Amino acid sequence: MEDVEGRVAFVTGGSSGIGRGIALAFARAGMRVVISGRRQEHVDESLAEFAAAGLDVEAVLLDVTDRDAVERAAEDTERRFGRVDVLVNNAGIGLTGPIMAATPADWDWLLDVNVKGVGHGICAFVPRIQAHGEGGHVVNTASMAGLLPIVAGLYSMTKAAVIALSEALAIELAPDGIGVSAYCPGPVHSNIAGAVARRPERYGESGYALPPAAFLERARTQPYMSYAEAGERVLHGVRRNDLFILTHPEFRDGVRDRFETTLAAFPDEPVDEVRAAAIPFLTSHTAYAPEKRNPSPRSTPR
Ligand code: NAI
Repeated sequence: MEDVEGRVAFVTGGSSGIGRGIALAFARAGMRVVISGRRQEHVDESLAEFAAAGLDVEAVLLDVTDRDAVERAAEDTERRFGRVDVLVNNAGIGLTGPIMAATPADWDWLLDVNVKGVGHGICAFVPRIQAHGEGGHVVNTASMAGLLPIVAGLYSMTKAAVIALSEALAIELAPDGIGVSAYCPGPVHSNIAGAVARRPERYGESGYALPPAAFLERARTQPYMSYAEAGERVLHGVRRNDLFILTHPEFRDGVRDRFETTLAAFPDEPVDEVRAAAIPFLTSHTAYAPEKRNPSPRSTPR
């Protein structure tokens, strides 16, 4: 979606961290932006940052695990702006720890926010983008953890789910001129590590200890990407209609090793041509054809 000016975007989790960076980049590019968040103080902070930059934004409090509330947010956005063009399913929680230490409630919280929350956004917003017939874009924030699930098993599982969902959705929505991107960042400065302390009561007990204050303090001084840069890179990916928005080349070798490990697991035997002819729709897609691949994004789009 090269021409973004005047388009209407809804960014879940836009009140903090990466989502705020995406919303800022969108607003700077002339888009009309609505952000959602869970915490009033983050919403207020975001509104102040937008105002200081001379940018307009609308903000709503929203829990993405509440399907009806997401539907209402979509309705309100359309009523307010007359249309909706871009959805960024970015809200997420970074609950991490060993798989075997997780309680059933940890599974539920992660799946409800990081996977079903994305589904609620898609179901509420995409039909409205389809309805106006002028195309649009969906960004689903996954993570490098979805492509290289070497730590934080449950979190990585949710992000792998979001990547698979995004790829299949990109194929389904292409005829409507709606692009879909799986955004897979590496570490970005945000409130993600501390946010797990504000666990909704209904999810009960966690098997994971909260990150110690010293860890949170150290994270603040790590050489992570800024949320503003992350946001600019997402905007660049939307403009290019990238299927994958990748921002951290330091993960390239690890991802390559994983894919080569996957390829090496195929049996070293000839393809059964009769079986292959029965299932061509399962074994490949033109979405991955070399001529459909965008060139690597080469420099920081600033
Ligand atoms: P953050 O904690 O600063 O922001 C998360 C946002 O999601 C907040 O606005 C929060 O209110 C919202 N949120 C959380 N649960 C919600 C719920 N139930 N309903 C509605 N909103 C909810 O964290 P960050 O890092 O900006 O995270 C954004 C996305 O980026 C997440 O999906 C995260 O998994 C992903 N990510 C973050 C990375 C990082 O290093 N910060 C790396 C890879 C992926």
